[in-house]
Amino acid sequence: MFPWRWLALLALIPLSLSANAGVKVKLTQKGLDFGRELFVASLQEKLMTIKVPDISGTERVDPIGKVHYSLTEMRIVKLGLPSSAIGLVPGTGFTMTITNAFLSLHGKWRVKYLRFIKDSGSFDLAIKSLSITTSISLRSDETGRPAVAVASCATTLGGVSIKFHGGASWLYNLFTRFIEKGLCSSLQKQICPLVAESVSSMNQFLKTLNVLAPLDRYAEIAYPMVSSPEISNSSIGLNLKGEFYNIGHHMEPPFSPAPFFLPNQEQSMLYIGLSVFTANSASFVYNKAGTLSLNITDDMIPPSSPFRLTTRTFGAFIPQIAKLFPGLMMVLQVKTAKDPLFNIEANNVTVDAISSLTAYAILANTSLAPLFVLNVDSSVGARVNVVGNKLAGAVNLNKLDMSLGKSYVGDFKVGSLSNIFQIVLKWVVLPTVNVRLKEGFPLPSLGKINLKNTQLQILKGYIMIGTDLQNSG
Ligand SMILES: *[C@@H]1O[C@H](CO)[C@@H](O)[C@H](O)[C@H]1NC(C)=O
Ligand SMILES: *[C@@H]1O[C@H](CO)[C@@H](O)[C@H](O)[C@H]1NC(C)=O
Ligand SMILES: *[C@@H]1O[C@H](CO)[C@@H](O)[C@H](O)[C@H]1NC(C)=O
Ligand SMILES: *[C@@H]1O[C@H](CO)[C@@H](O)[C@H](O)[C@H]1NC(C)=O
Repeated sequence: MFPWRWLALLALIPLSLSANAGVKVKLTQKGLDFGRELFVASLQEKLMTIKVPDISGTERVDPIGKVHYSLTEMRIVKLGLPSSAIGLVPGTGFTMTITNAFLSLHGKWRVKYLRFIKDSGSFDLAIKSLSITTSISLRSDETGRPAVAVASCATTLGGVSIKFHGGASWLYNLFTRFIEKGLCSSLQKQICPLVAESVSSMNQFLKTLNVLAPLDRYAEIAYPMVSSPEISNSSIGLNLKGEFYNIGHHMEPPFSPAPFFLPNQEQSMLYIGLSVFTANSASFVYNKAGTLSLNITDDMIPPSSPFRLTTRTFGAFIPQIAKLFPGLMMVLQVKTAKDPLFNIEANNVTVDAISSLTAYAILANTSLAPLFVLNVDSSVGARVNVVGNKLAGAVNLNKLDMSLGKSYVGDFKVGSLSNIFQIVLKWVVLPTVNVRLKEGFPLPSLGKINLKNTQLQILKGYIMIGTDLQNSG
């Protein structure tokens, strides 16, 4: 290969590796314990379904000779998984250890010997100190969702005790042997396949990650994993795309996520970091969709307003308007000049927008006559909060600077209109935006897991939500 080809390849590398996350999720030991409880509950249900096949055979017992025996109708009557632990295996996954599990089983026994003697009864078998150790690997599947797989599984049985009901005592010794051997191994063989079933139902659950969450008519948000899970000795970290897209038309914005790292906090089960990239991708999508433009008409101005959107109001400041267009209604067209830009600093989220505002008089034949164009430089402060499984917010005006872009009605002092536009912004524009922000945007979520004890921190470059989890399913 020629050197220039190597160079071309090198130039391509950053593209294929440009997988910085817009959103990061970190599951702490406390969160893993929440997952462990879900897993153990699922495994307990599965183990209750163990079907113990009938066992029968013929054995020679001195001095009576051949004894034909059978054990039937065996079913599990009690099963407990009282203690379990989950431990991380950095780089690969985790181990789940269940100890001191117990199980009891009830069944019927039947024997036939000396050609004509039959006897039968029932028995109870109790297994104590059962332990199950399984190691589980975690990776990202082809849809960008986390997926788990059993890497190994082993079980050990502790003590077994059997209590017979009915029959002769010499038979008990006979059965104790067969029950211990046949029954225990039959039971033991079924445990790891059921562990594997529980792990695959965990996968069903992980498949509910909302890798593409619909928002509204315009946008959806993508949360697939962009790299392998980061498994350390204290947490599992997932790097998610965290990007807003136009529905069905996924166009990348001209900026990409900067790397960021969630601080080491352990009090909550889960930490979710939403970067300024995610917020700006929203701005990019909604602005492209034209939803950040607004036509302000008089009917949008609250009745309690000290002024109406008329040439009379503006004529008081710009005499030419009163003279050329007396007694007309007006419309203000607000258009963003650039995508509004989010800034996230410690305890401070702001959005800066540069827009143009064109004022028109509405003529008697409904044609619009332009009056003037203003360049508007505004900055709003945003408050964010978590509502259910959504991030919601509200903005309020921090700064409004206006300059004259063009006038069709002679020169005038823009500052004299400042009060009017402050009111328009506060009473019309921001409430419209806030209605949408109040609805919120879905956070990454799984199944029917709800967030609980949620706390929000605003750090440099990202918003971090610390939360506990609760299963409502
Ligand atoms: C966990 O990993 C960190 C960093 O790799 C290391 O400093 C720490 O000693 C480890 N802790 C344990 C308990 O292994
Ligand atoms: C505002 O009005 C103009 C002209 O009437 C129209 O072309 C434009 O689509 C409107 N914009 C919005 C956001 O409704
Ligand atoms: C937030 O940041 C903006 C601009 O960066 C600044 O003007 C404002 O004073 C800050 N607010 C607080 C509460 O720090
Ligand atoms: C509306 O009236 C204005 C002035 O009276 C005129 O210039 C304009 O052409 C009219 N527009 C239409 C669509 O009739």
